[in-house]
Formats: sequence, C-alpha cells, structure tokens
Amino acid sequence: MCGIFGYIGSKRATPILVDGLRRLEYRGYDSTGIAVKNGEISIFKKVGKVSEMQSILPSNIQGTSGIGHTRWATHGGVTEENAHPHASSSGDVVIVHNGIINNSRILRASLVAQGVELKSETDSEALAHIIEIELAVDNNPEAAVRRTLQKASGTWGLCVLFKNHDVIVVAANGSTLEIGKGDGEMFISSDGPTLSEFTDRVVHLHDDDIAVLTATSITRSSLKGDRKSVEVSVLEKSWGEADLGEYEHYMLKEIHEQPDALRHCISGRLDRVRGNGRLGGLRLSPSALAKVPHVRLIGCGTALHAAEIGQLLIEKLARIPAVTHIASEFRHNDPVINPNALHFAVSQSGETADTLSAIKEIQLKGAQVYGVVNVVGSTIARQCGQGVYIHSGPEQAVASTKAFSNMVVALTMFALQVGRSRSISKEKGKEIIHGLQQIPHLIEEYLEDVGPIMEAVELVKDAKSVFFLGRGISAPVAKEGALKLMEVAYIPCLAYPAGEMKHGPIALLEEGSPIIFVVPNDHVKEKTVSAIHESKARGAKIILIHEEGDEISEEGDVNIAIPKVHPLLSPLLTVVPMQLIAYHTALALGNDVDRPRNLAKSVTVE
Ligand code: G6P
Repeated sequence: MCGIFGYIGSKRATPILVDGLRRLEYRGYDSTGIAVKNGEISIFKKVGKVSEMQSILPSNIQGTSGIGHTRWATHGGVTEENAHPHASSSGDVVIVHNGIINNSRILRASLVAQGVELKSETDSEALAHIIEIELAVDNNPEAAVRRTLQKASGTWGLCVLFKNHDVIVVAANGSTLEIGKGDGEMFISSDGPTLSEFTDRVVHLHDDDIAVLTATSITRSSLKGDRKSVEVSVLEKSWGEADLGEYEHYMLKEIHEQPDALRHCISGRLDRVRGNGRLGGLRLSPSALAKVPHVRLIGCGTALHAAEIGQLLIEKLARIPAVTHIASEFRHNDPVINPNALHFAVSQSGETADTLSAIKEIQLKGAQVYGVVNVVGSTIARQCGQGVYIHSGPEQAVASTKAFSNMVVALTMFALQVGRSRSISKEKGKEIIHGLQQIPHLIEEYLEDVGPIMEAVELVKDAKSVFFLGRGISAPVAKEGALKLMEVAYIPCLAYPAGEMKHGPIALLEEGSPIIFVVPNDHVKEKTVSAIHESKARGAKIILIHEEGDEISEEGDVNIAIPKVHPLLSPLLTVVPMQLIAYHTALALGNDVDRPRNLAKSVTVE
C-alpha cells in the first residue's frame, strides 16, 4: 500500500529516494512520485512502477533533500494528478501522505471558498494548501503543520518539504513513519526494515507525533505542542536476503525458503525433555495458562487462514474453546470481550489497519492482545507489546507463503504449550515436537520432487472457476490454496469444507470443472473421499493432494503426493503444492506474480 521515503543530508537526494521507493515496491501501489528541493521544489510523478517514474527523471537533478511516495488509490482514480507529491498553490509547500483524511470534503470545500484551486481529487492535497496558509501566519514550518493537523481528522504518515526552510517536517497518526538517523543525514520511511540499507539507528514516530528534521537534528513534539524526547533504537536485522538470488521471482524464492524459515521459527522454542513449547515472549505462567477461559484469534487474508488452523490446534491440544474473527468485521460488531481470555492478532506485516483496529478495540475493553507477527518493531508488534515473532525473514511477494507456514507453526507451539499445562501428556507433547522438527526436512523432500504440478496448472489455468475442498484441519488450508490462486492468477476460486459441497456449491459443477482436494491421512480422510466420488460423478476433474503411499493415491485425475506427516501438522505440507500451482498458473497466464494487480502487501487503510 502507499509508501513514503524521504531524505535530508548532503548527498544527491534523487538516487536515494528512487532506491528507497524501490525497496517499498513490494508493498503494492499504482503510481509513484518524488519532490526534490534545489532552490525551487521540482516534482516528478507517473502512473505505474518506480522504474516508469525513473524513466522521466532528468539525468542530473541536484538537491540534497526530498520526499517520495508510492500511491495505492483510495480517494480519486489512478492518475498523474492524484499521484503524490502534492504542492500548495505557490509550490512553496509540498507533501506526501499515507492514510486517510476523514474530513477532507469539508477541508476542500473551505479551501475552494477561499479561492484555492485544487488540482487533484485526493484527500491529501488539502493539507499542502492549509499548511501554506498557516505558514503565512508566523513563517514557522512546525507550527504550520501542527495547526493544519489540528484541523484534520483521520490517519496520517505525513512528510512536508518547504521551499524556504531547510527542514522536513514529519508527522504520524495511525500510519507508520520511521526516521533513520545517519551521520549528517536523515532518512524517512513508512517501512522501518527498508532503512536497514542506509542506517541501523531508527526513531519510531508514535501516534500524534510531529518531528522537525534537519540533516543533523530531530526535534520531536506532540500534536498539542509539548516537547518529547527522541529515543533512538537499533534496527534489528532479520535473516534472509531481500534480493532474488538464483530465483526468477520472490514468490518462488519464498516458497523454497519455507524449510529454513520454519527452522528459524522453532529454534530454541521447543523443550524436547519436557515435551513442551517455550514461547518466552508470551510471558504467561503455566498457572495463568491453565485458567484461560477461551482464545480468540484475529487476522486478514492469509493470516486469517493461519489463525483458523491455530484455532483448531488450540481446541485439540489445549482443550480451550477457540474462535477466529475476520479483523475487518470485529470492531464493528461491538464484540463482548472477556479480559481473562487470550487474544491473538496474526499479521505478517504488522501494519494491517483492520487488524490494528481490532486490537485497539480489544485493549479498550480491558483485555490483552498477543501479536503473532513477522516484521520486528512493526505497529502491531508495538501496539501489542507482547507475543511471538514468527521470524520468516523479509517476505517480498505480495502473495504470502513462508509467513503463512511460520504463523501456523507459532500457533502450534502455543497450542502445545497451553496443552501441556492443561491436558496433554509429556509423551504426546514429545510426539508433536518430533513431528515439528521433521517438517523442514519433509518440505525439502517434497520440493525436490513436486509431482505433476504442471498437469494441475493445465486443468485450472483456463477454468471459469476452481473449487478447493478439504475437511477438518484441511478446510482452512483449502481456503489458503484458493486465496493464493485467486491473488496471482485472477481466477475466481471457491473454498469449502468438503462436506458442505453437496449443500449448494455442487450446482456449479460441469463437465471438466477442476476441484483441488486436500486429503492428508487423518481421521476425516474417508469422509472427504465420499465428496471426491460425488464430484467425479458430476464430471469434475480432480486434483488430489494426498500422502505418498496412501490407498487413495489414484483417486484423482492428477495426483500430487506429499511426504507422510503428523496429522495435526499436515497443513505445513499440503499448502506447498497449492502455492506452486498458484505460482505456475500465474506465470502461464502471463501475470506479474510478485505484484498482482490491485493488491498490496501491507494494507494500511480500513
Ligand atoms: C493483504 C494482502 C494479503 C495478506 C493480508 C494480511 O490483504 O494482500 O496477502 O494476507 O493483507 O496481511 P498481514 O500483513 O496482516 O498478514
């Protein structure tokens, strides 16, 4: 989603801004722009990728401060006029903005009444004009931004460049902005980890913060005007290179990184002697765990599917009622919150606005929320203040793969830890730990011989729609398979628990309709086989994901074998062929697999 990168220092700003924006590219966007100050402020913007904006840049733009933006349209279409940066009427004030200004209609109307000509349809542009009007009052950039934001309601990560002042003023409220402190230079980014290429010292902006940056100083204050101290922290390096290495696409690279990502996630967190999990970040004693009345998990997209698997494992192993909620619905349904219950927020990016709102709702009603998050120091990680980092390493492809598996493993370790304090034996705990430790190797084994994936691609690539069916723990895995194919291949996909097929969706089946069945060797296998027969009888073509050597291995038209796996851990294997089917189908259709249309990696608006 929208990204911000800024620079003030002594080097040429343009290449740094372009480099910074490239590092934000994976988050998803539709237009790009930069503003560089060199006496005047020059603005360059273009619909499309950073490279397209770069192609219109004059070769040698001077200027040692500037701001850049990647836009994901919310207010107004995908046009050059609506792309950021936005300038005030005189061009003396230029802004980039992430978030949404809720009262923009009123602000725009009042500007028009004052004779200001608005050039875009965005909610953001109004801020540039109001800052210019306020600057005329006392020629104080910080005060002008403060008075402007006091008139605004909504969310912002805001950077402001001034023609006549050698500062960049930044402000945050409900939208992440981090300052990277270099030697005689400052960087600004809406995505903390992208700063690691430039510096390892960062200052997090909190909600309601305003900061004035020069090349050598940061002055922080609140929206009300109180001075605040500047706390510099060290940016943690995450494992895994963010470049492509030997792979053609990030999605394929990240599918192949799953074994190592899982090793990182479980490392030091399993107690083989006691058959227990050791998730220190939860800071929950066994006696506290024993009293938990129920567990609620929230997330969006892939994180939601991982949460649904976690829910089943928590009920099975810990014998505590567990329920999963779509984060975007949660807050609006005025949920009843039990402060003694455990709440988990699951998120790769740690920036998803829907998830963040749900967390705030739970906290407001007196309960604690534990984060299950990938990006260290992200907004959700900080808002929760406790939880589990899943340690997937940077995930660049919009379609999530390795983060999904690590979320599932983190929640499995939690279920094990609570289970051991309540119901399951040491032996059962050891059995699960043994199973978990096998998983990275089993995925490697599968990736060495992935089976007839391309035959499956042939069946789905021109289909009107594709069904994904599974039962029990495979029902949410089927949903994840459907989401993957939909995200990157743009094929309508329907996922159902297999038993529900006969209650309606079966009406859609025609001769040749492809169905992907997820059927590990567990206690519901036989039931799913009945659904396979019912579908075959109506002309469906079956792609079967099964365990190798299983007696059902010839039931499908295309049969894809995964290694034998502990029944509770099967999602970590069954999801992999579906990730590969999605990847290869997208390629066969000529789609941009790492940056699918309309999607964003980090969805920072509700
Ligand atoms: C967006 C992405 C999905 C992702 C979801 C949750 O919708 O397109 O791929 O699963 O957000 O993201 P999170 O960062 O919270 O896991």
